[in-house]
Amino acid sequence: MKFNIVNSSITNARKPKLDEYLRSYIDHLRYVADQNTYDAPESSINLPFDQTLLGEVQNLASSLQNPHLKYIFVVGIGGSNLGTKAVYDALFGYTDNLERATPQIIFLDTPNPAFLEKIQTFADRISSPEEVLINVISKSGTTTETIMNANILCEALEHQIEELSSRIVVTTDEQSKLWYKADKEGMHRLAIPEQVGGRYSVLSAVGLFPLAAAGIDIENLRQGAADMRSRCLEHQGNPALMSAQVIYDAYENGAHVADQFVFNAELASLGQWYRQLMGESLGKEHNLAGKTVNAGLTPTVSVGSTDLHSVGQLYLGGPNDKITTFISALPKDAPTNPRGGLFDGLVSEIDEQSASDVMSAILEGVKTAYTKQNLPALELTLEEIVPYHLGEFLQFKMIEIMLLGKLMNVNAFNQPHVELYKEETRRLLTEQE
Ligand code: PA5
Repeated sequence: MKFNIVNSSITNARKPKLDEYLRSYIDHLRYVADQNTYDAPESSINLPFDQTLLGEVQNLASSLQNPHLKYIFVVGIGGSNLGTKAVYDALFGYTDNLERATPQIIFLDTPNPAFLEKIQTFADRISSPEEVLINVISKSGTTTETIMNANILCEALEHQIEELSSRIVVTTDEQSKLWYKADKEGMHRLAIPEQVGGRYSVLSAVGLFPLAAAGIDIENLRQGAADMRSRCLEHQGNPALMSAQVIYDAYENGAHVADQFVFNAELASLGQWYRQLMGESLGKEHNLAGKTVNAGLTPTVSVGSTDLHSVGQLYLGGPNDKITTFISALPKDAPTNPRGGLFDGLVSEIDEQSASDVMSAILEGVKTAYTKQNLPALELTLEEIVPYHLGEFLQFKMIEIMLLGKLMNVNAFNQPHVELYKEETRRLLTEQE
């Protein structure tokens, strides 16, 4: 994966100061890496090196895979499904309408009434336990949406499948109520290390198990992440460090929106994953000294070239309040616009140009326009959309956010206000009973 600064106002005087400020935190990350345990909040950086985890996930996935497996239901929300969805959609999502992946992952996050209404009819088509696998994922084990979806899905499937428990894998914190419930019901269990928070858990069993069960090469995903960790723990030439510094500099200069502008539509879910990572990690009422700061950048996702036709005008002509990261992975070979086609002569510039040539020209044009308008922007280029480079991207972004948390002096690992709404919801539901 290549990192490039498209346009930034960060000065030669400012950068060494930020380098110096982050030096001791990078040393701390190196210490966490050397320890190779799960004792620190940053310990998600050790997941790609955990061979016990890999073995456990691969053994369970292969014991549950079979030639009849059609559907893997991933029941989880937020940090418990966004990473899996990001990788799955990048590899299969956009072409899903034309060509379904087998097995197909079906995600259940919010309890959508229309979707749940149809689950029973869907379940009626399933005739043997081998066709399905259910992965219920919840770090806390008590998330309202997840437990409700799991109950409704399992009730529908139980009409069709005897001994459904043997097709259910529960991924949760050891000692959570769900952990014990799964044991009692004879379900398979995978643990999430206590210190690894939901939004940093994609490379734990949370993401690895469903991806492995769907046949995705998790060893390459981990290898990409492992190699990127080495790059991101350097003091020099560290892409996560440079990215964090440019974003922080832009933030200090009035950028309060961080846009992930993907130029491959299949990477949009990767942007959604980052949205949670950035939103929950940096959006804080108080800083580490307890002072009210109401910090944070609002993360958004844009898809090129689609969104240029809706918000391009706003981005280029509206307020200069965004820091944009262009993300692309344009293949060398792509279908070509034929000369003499049915719509020949309307846009002559595209004659015999491939879809990648056209998308590249649009991306280059947009980057130049951003620079001319003096809009801060970064660029990430994935050589190819394969597990290795997706692993690199995930690890890069998780370390970038840890560094940004340090620069902004906020706790990048807690989410006190998410708990607030969860408590309120439970209170209202109790009152309704
Ligand atoms: O990052 C977080 O902690 C949250 O967004 C959680 O991932 C989300 O609320 C789901 O929680 P749980 O995994 O406990 O079901």
